Amino acid sequence: MKALLILIVLMNLDKNKCFAFLSFSDQVLSITAKTQEQVELLKNVSTQYETVLWQPVSPEYIKEEEPVHLSPSAFAQSFASRFCFRVLLDNTNEMIELQTRNDSTDPRSSSSYYERYHSLEDIYYWINRTTQEHPEMVKVVLIGSSYEKRPLYALKISVGEKQDKKAIWIDCGIHAREWISPAFCMWFSLSYYNQNQDITHILNHMDVYVLPVMNPDGYKYTWTTNRMWRKNRSYSTDSSCVGVDLNRNFDANWCTEGASDKPCSEIYCGAFPESEPESEAVANFLRSHKDSVQLYLTIHSYSQMLLFPYSCTLDEAENHNELLVMAQEAAQKIRRYYRNTYKYGAGGKTIYLAPGGSDDWAYNLGIKYSFTFELQDRGRYGFLLPPSHISKACNEALIAVKTIALRVIEKTQAPQ
Ligand code: ARG
Ligand code: ZN
Repeated sequence: MKALLILIVLMNLDKNKCFAFLSFSDQVLSITAKTQEQVELLKNVSTQYETVLWQPVSPEYIKEEEPVHLSPSAFAQSFASRFCFRVLLDNTNEMIELQTRNDSTDPRSSSSYYERYHSLEDIYYWINRTTQEHPEMVKVVLIGSSYEKRPLYALKISVGEKQDKKAIWIDCGIHAREWISPAFCMWFSLSYYNQNQDITHILNHMDVYVLPVMNPDGYKYTWTTNRMWRKNRSYSTDSSCVGVDLNRNFDANWCTEGASDKPCSEIYCGAFPESEPESEAVANFLRSHKDSVQLYLTIHSYSQMLLFPYSCTLDEAENHNELLVMAQEAAQKIRRYYRNTYKYGAGGKTIYLAPGGSDDWAYNLGIKYSFTFELQDRGRYGFLLPPSHISKACNEALIAVKTIALRVIEKTQAPQ
């Protein structure tokens, strides 16, 4: 009722500015609230009526003058049509079709294999084949299992005889709907075992651990049931809502402002830190390898950002300037070689407070080089980035990883 009243007020305010037109449920709209009242209304709309929020991740982050990307349900459309909005996508069903097409049952046979999205089964198969084809450099490490008991396999890429090398950790697919992320981990692995000069240099100094899908249950669910699923698939005792946001489940100012203790929220922090088997597995692995892992990377989408700690507080990290310079250099490389713009900075100040993230937790564990990458795009396609964009999205992220890894080696390892 209150929402309706606000709506009526807004309708009158906006009558001359905005033209009310119809939108359909397979559309994604970009709406920018101009006033605090509109912010409240948008928050209301996106908490109710089965609206799917794409950006920001949860209604409490909605602010004036910051575009909100959402897919309104039939009922919410009558609300949305009262705002000035822009249609980002008007064929989400087609876009999903495009993303899931060609997921061949005979993986790796074609050269475009890495320019497609792959089902969970395909990725497991790919992990297997990769280790079989490169037994001297790629090993599989089982780090744990998911809530639904799927294995969490990481690849260990390692060359040469040296046993006590330092290491890079990279995980993908913590959030289920961010499909470009697992695609990146596969792209990355391919380029590492194929090697070029820089990569040979990196691998001569460091081993690389790659976890292609940290949230396999959620990822599976995005292929079978709900393309826009974000969290894992765990059930809680006191709610019918499913799933914990794994990137709010780590022990870094856990469940403070920027996370939610409500199981129905997209940013639900879980019952306690590391309550989820997926985050616990990664945390256990890093705890037991904390003396070797020097660089922690976690891959998300979308918004094109290179973030570093902290996200769980507005305080600056102890080596803030060092991280800033590294992120800046990486962003410059992306601009120079791929003509694309990435924002960079500490997470809390660059986007929003988001406690319980893996990057901050790894940083506090002692991994002083810790980054979250948000890959393409900026909302044109959002989570539905077409397969034809995979190669550029991955190559630009790859150059950023390379730039940062080379710097880490330079800073931490004396020339041999
Ligand atoms: N979009 C990401 C999230 O909401 C941002 C991650 C930044 N790092 C963090 N620790 N929150 O999870
Ligand atoms: Zn994410």
